[in-house]
Amino acid sequence: MAVQKNKTLGEFIIENQSEFQYSSGELSRLINSIRLAAKVVNHEVNKAGLVDIIGEAGDTNIQGEDQQKLDVFANDAFINTLTNREIVCGIASEEEEDFITIQGRNGQNDNKYVVLIDPLDGSSNIDVNVSVGTIFSIFRRVTPPGTPVSLEDFLQPGHRQVAAGYIIYGTSTMIVYSTGHGVNGFTLNPALGTYYLSHPNLSFPKTGNIYSVNEGNYVHFPQGIKDYIKYCQEEEEDRPYTSRYIGSLVSDVHRNMIKGGIYIYPNTAKDPNGKLRLLYECNPMAFLIEQAGGKATDGFRRILDIQPTTLHQRTPFIGGSASMVEKAESFMHRYPQRD
Ligand code: AHG
Ligand code: MN
Ligand code: MN
Repeated sequence: MAVQKNKTLGEFIIENQSEFQYSSGELSRLINSIRLAAKVVNHEVNKAGLVDIIGEAGDTNIQGEDQQKLDVFANDAFINTLTNREIVCGIASEEEEDFITIQGRNGQNDNKYVVLIDPLDGSSNIDVNVSVGTIFSIFRRVTPPGTPVSLEDFLQPGHRQVAAGYIIYGTSTMIVYSTGHGVNGFTLNPALGTYYLSHPNLSFPKTGNIYSVNEGNYVHFPQGIKDYIKYCQEEEEDRPYTSRYIGSLVSDVHRNMIKGGIYIYPNTAKDPNGKLRLLYECNPMAFLIEQAGGKATDGFRRILDIQPTTLHQRTPFIGGSASMVEKAESFMHRYPQRD
């Protein structure tokens, strides 16, 4: 399909608002706010090499990981933008121990959506000038409007997401998102501060030749993943595959969505549930992957069907081109499921 020239994200949001089941305009305003916060973060990320903003903030996040200064900046930028606009009733962030309650206009608690974010994904890439991202996930609250948001509003299985997306701060800055009607990508023209529709109807090639996994952890991987990696490396008609691993989920999935490939972050002996967070990383990426025709599982279960029990829970993750993910699953199924 030819890209209609010069369609902006703002125009696209308005034109497609009616596609959304509850089209009150609230979700459109929410995506608009994310677009705005992304510009602020983009500006700061682009300056990372120039100003004293790289390096540790001297804090560790609640998962015991060092926080970079830009993690803090991005966290604040998204939370402030969403809070000031009083669009959502609550926000949960990878960088915050508890969810944030937003009472909204006149303290009425009448906003209907919650947002979950990984404000800066791939933060170890910042000080080496490699792509980072932001991931967001949006649900409709399950508790009644008029009452304060509660934990159960955040602990919903991923198939109930009404929208999800990511921003990639790469050679270009892009927003890629879905409201459940396919996936579209918008590229920022930095001179104008405007995002243009550049990647309409993004879809995963059914198969591909890229596998993305941190092979340094190979000895700790489950046997099914070890076997699958060996399969990727075998000499056959379409193999060995190419290995590509950036260390930023957003960037690795974005590349694989365009070129065809599989991303794997398995459980290891050290991290029995893997490393990636279900609510801030895996659910939104799985929603986008499925909307783009791919598959996302933990090796045994569809990611979007996992019932979360805690805000910061982790899960093994295998996502990408459908036939590659099915092949990886078939290797996993040769061995008994962990726990
Ligand atoms: P974050 O920067 O938000 O902590 O996420 C980093 C995640 C993910 O983006 C990436 O794919 C993975 O961690 C990389 O982990 P390893 O360095 O263990 O490969
Ligand atoms: Mn992350
Ligand atoms: Mn992060």
